[in-house]
Amino acid sequence: MKELDRTTPIWVKVLVPLVGLGGLTTLAIISILLAGLFNAWLGQPLPVLGFEQTFDQPINFPHTKHAAPVSEGGLGMDCTYCHRTVAKASSAHVPAVELCASCHRAVGSPESEDLKKLRMTSGIYEDENTSQVVVDPEMASPINWRRVHRMPDHVRFVHSAHINYLTNNPSAIGNVPEYLDLSGEEKVPASQVCSTCHGDVANMEKVYQVEPLKMGQCVNCHRKNGAPTDCAACHH
Ligand code: HEC
Ligand code: HEC
Ligand code: HEC
Ligand code: HEC
Ligand code: HEC
Repeated sequence: MKELDRTTPIWVKVLVPLVGLGGLTTLAIISILLAGLFNAWLGQPLPVLGFEQTFDQPINFPHTKHAAPVSEGGLGMDCTYCHRTVAKASSAHVPAVELCASCHRAVGSPESEDLKKLRMTSGIYEDENTSQVVVDPEMASPINWRRVHRMPDHVRFVHSAHINYLTNNPSAIGNVPEYLDLSGEEKVPASQVCSTCHGDVANMEKVYQVEPLKMGQCVNCHRKNGAPTDCAACHH
């Protein structure tokens, strides 16, 4: 023991007993937890983690043609026409092919490759005998849209609470597109609040994530707007 005391540096003397107690393992666990917390707080994940990435969908669905305002060359459809539960439930809902078929049995170029795929998937075809376009739900199959935004399993997110708050507090809406003027508005439709977290989806050829939607951003906004900041509000 005397030998060790005289010749070894101080950090070894601290470390050796710690290892004896399994201290290194504890240290490692604490470091990993801290790194996780730091990463969650920091806000800007690395691009390799999927932020701002975009990818091909089974059918290239253009929000531009459907949701962009008429002045921007779209149909000006409300987001809530397709994302029906966004103001009422946790999840926004992505529409089933039946909804697409309700228009596309009649609308759109017969030449479009994406619409050909859509007609196949939604069971739309021309009856050979009558030359009528028919929709056969038996032939429809779901489209496996790839998720762009996804929270980890331990996080709870509720769309409805946010939509209700933002429609009644337009000054808290972020990323307002240039073609909208919300100044002085006291209440806005649900479709005008989505930009806060999703950016100007109506003008995206392919949806991509524009906000980090990391813990720091959630908590900052909660603090600013008097929403709960205790861990259990957002974590299971
Ligand atoms: C005609 C129906 C329709 C309308 C209108 C529509 N969407 Fe979508 N939306 C879809 C479909 C289908 C998808 C899945 C394919 C994709 O990601 O492009 C989708 C995907 C999304 C996603 C990505 C979901 C994910 O995987 O994380 C967001 C965000 C979104 N829409 C927001 C909006 C907003 C905001 C509006 C209004 C400006 C809007 N949508 C209008 C049909 C629609
Ligand atoms: C309210 C009617 C309506 C609904 C509902 C609708 N669309 Fe469309 N869609 C249109 C119109 C109108 C166009 C523009 C057609 C054109 O420019 O020829 C279009 C264009 C498209 C195009 C581009 C076609 C091309 O290549 O030019 C695709 C793909 C498409 N829609 C897919 C979908 C899908 C998938 C859904 C369901 C999630 C859907 N649409 C729901 C009306 C609708
Ligand atoms: C406060 C931020 C915020 C606002 C505002 C917001 N979203 Fe989201 N959205 C999210 C988050 C976070 C997710 C990922 C949720 C998850 O993985 O559980 C998401 C996911 C989605 C999805 C994927 C499917 C789903 O239900 O998870 C769609 C579609 C969507 N949002 C549409 C919308 C539309 C349309 C609006 C406006 C009416 C809107 N969002 C407003 C944060 C927001
Ligand atoms: C634009 C500001 C804003 C952003 C960004 C935001 N929130 Fe919120 N959130 C609110 C407000 C305000 C409320 C309270 C709404 C109310 O009670 O009327 C709320 C409520 C909630 C609730 C419901 C709490 C309850 O039980 O009533 C959850 C869960 C939640 N937010 C999670 C999140 C998560 C997770 C994120 C990040 C992905 C996030 N929020 C981002 C403003 C925001
Ligand atoms: C307003 C919502 C909100 C509140 C309040 C909140 N968190 Fe989080 N937290 C999140 C979100 C969203 C993520 C996921 C971020 C990410 O993808 O890294 C997260 C991630 C984490 C992670 C990282 C896990 C990982 O996978 O990297 C830890 C640890 C964590 N939270 C702990 C806490 C603790 C402790 C508290 C209370 C002091 C707390 N959180 C309060 C929203 C919240």
